[in-house]
Amino acid sequence: MKETDMNRRELAVETMLVHAGNVRRDVDSTALAIYPSTSFMADSPEQLDRIMAGEEDGFSYSRHGNPTVDGLMVAMAQLEGAETVIATASGMAAIDAALFAVGLRTGDTVLLSRDLYGASLNLVGKVWAQYGVKTVVADLTDLNQLEAILHRERPKALLFEILSNPILKVADAPKIVAMAHAVDCQVIVDSTFTTPLMVKPLSFGADLVVHSATKYLGGHGDAMAGIVAGSGRYHDALHQYLKLRGGVLGPFEAWLIHRGIQTLAVRFERQCANAWELAQHLEQTGVFRHVYHPFLQSHPTVATAQRLLPAHMGGAVVTIELMGARKEAYTFLRSLRVIRSATTIGDVYTLCLYPLVASHRNQTDQERLAMGITEGTMRIAVGLEHPNDLFADIMQAATMAQ
Ligand SMILES: Cc1ncc(COP(=O)(O)O)c(C=O)c1O
Repeated sequence: MKETDMNRRELAVETMLVHAGNVRRDVDSTALAIYPSTSFMADSPEQLDRIMAGEEDGFSYSRHGNPTVDGLMVAMAQLEGAETVIATASGMAAIDAALFAVGLRTGDTVLLSRDLYGASLNLVGKVWAQYGVKTVVADLTDLNQLEAILHRERPKALLFEILSNPILKVADAPKIVAMAHAVDCQVIVDSTFTTPLMVKPLSFGADLVVHSATKYLGGHGDAMAGIVAGSGRYHDALHQYLKLRGGVLGPFEAWLIHRGIQTLAVRFERQCANAWELAQHLEQTGVFRHVYHPFLQSHPTVATAQRLLPAHMGGAVVTIELMGARKEAYTFLRSLRVIRSATTIGDVYTLCLYPLVASHRNQTDQERLAMGITEGTMRIAVGLEHPNDLFADIMQAATMAQ
């Protein structure tokens, strides 16, 4: 195809993933390039002045910008359809940057989804609370309750995840964004579990989207990183935050995440397919008290999932509830042979997490029960192994745990 035709056509996401941000500057290499340099030379003092003033593209000092990190940012801007992007040292740093960018002041309220990642709840409830920011928590699957809270509390920002962890409830994100905007509340979506392949929160009006790129974007469990993407009106605040607080992403990690993104479509689609197959087979056995997957008819938010998510992508996590309690759960974890016990998601390996001692250890029994988490709940972040092997492994461990 002629280049002019290519330019006119909108690229498919698979094509975009492979090429986006692969900007080779000074070497004729096809691989993504790593620039480990902390500082960069300009051609003249005048040029350095223009670069420092933001009047000319270029690099001066790696806390202000680095070509390798820039390539990742360009890729993420294309993937999310964002006007501005920053890359941070971890997902938590990205969430903190997003909270800064919405302009929180003493006396402001942040509304958080009850099912949010625990550290995000603590970041607002413990760290931002020190600056006089108030936290309100809501169940975002109850839109009547949400409406009442939005009008009562008038929050400055709302932070939520579309797919809840570990019960995998799907929040009606476009409706939630519209409801929040009606009371001038800015919306930050943590899209770590959904990736830009499943949802693009900016496309339905979210103000900022954040990722723990440590998970699916990197995809190999070997680099920590965060991304904030959003509307151009946050550009200055996000870049100022990064320059002054300094939680920048290093070029080696940026390179690993960017390289991971090139294979995101094949990895994530396969992981989603594996998770769906596994969920259906596990539910059919009748061995578990519950099997959770957004597309199972038994899931309380299945209608929302079918309406909002792509038909072949319900996410790559399956959660099961064993019949037993903590003792049986420990036996289950010890008996797994293929699946590894670990506290993350998005790896090539399938990983099992026990929420009671890991992600939700700081919640009370009552709070956990309200979220649907019991002593038997196990989150399985599905990897790239054959689903038959995963099914066999879970079944033999469940038998040991009976
Ligand atoms: C949904 C979600 N958001 C944010 C984070 C934090 O990311 P990181 O560990 O990269 O700081 C995590 C980590 O598990 C997460 O699961």
